[in-house]
Amino acid sequence: MPFKAVVFDAYGTLFDVYSVQHLAEQMFPGKGAALALAWRDKQIEYTRLITQSDPDPAKGSRFYQSFWDLTRLSLQYCLDRLQLDRTQGQDEALMGQYAKLSPFPENLEVLRSIKRHGLTTAILSNGSPQMLDSAVHSAGMAGLLDHVISVDGIRLFKTAPQAYALVQESIALPLEQILFVSSNAWDALGANWFGLHTHWVNRQGLPFEALEPRPDFSGADLRSVLQTLELEE
Ligand code: LAC
Repeated sequence: MPFKAVVFDAYGTLFDVYSVQHLAEQMFPGKGAALALAWRDKQIEYTRLITQSDPDPAKGSRFYQSFWDLTRLSLQYCLDRLQLDRTQGQDEALMGQYAKLSPFPENLEVLRSIKRHGLTTAILSNGSPQMLDSAVHSAGMAGLLDHVISVDGIRLFKTAPQAYALVQESIALPLEQILFVSSNAWDALGANWFGLHTHWVNRQGLPFEALEPRPDFSGADLRSVLQTLELEE
């Protein structure tokens, strides 16, 4: 088996960012799905805007704000944009839900299987350490991850190459032996450009980005990673 470590993206890959739509739908009938989608897009747009506008490799971006703060700000923007009147309590409830996102159903079993076979496991995420800690614990994944790596210390978001390089600070293996797994096509592309092997989890049956290269591997849910690793389920 070629890989000795597996590094997962967090939001969208291990944790279902669109699971907030059920609570959003209860609050704003008919608008839950639109809010969840717009919220995610705006959150990622802000990370790119900030990193691209000051990509200082030594100090990070002077415009940096934590992913948690950007999540809150993008929620506020999207509620305004969709003209949804809300109370402070509703804002807090949606953020509370974001702190404890549902994991996709097969994920725990897949992580257990990878650990059973003795591979190193990690998260590499734009998320801030505290929100990652909360999500990992509420999903029951705490004992299944050797490293939870946040970009927060370098103040640069993915897809800055410095963000992917953090993997090598925690995992002392050559890049060829590390598999990066993401459901976000743009993230798989960024990791590939950096030099990692990638597995794209395409849960929604989407086309990959029109930019090259394509991911080395892909599949419809996290179980497909076990095939890439040549492990039994
Ligand atoms: C993460 C988001 C961007 O880095 O999916 O976890």
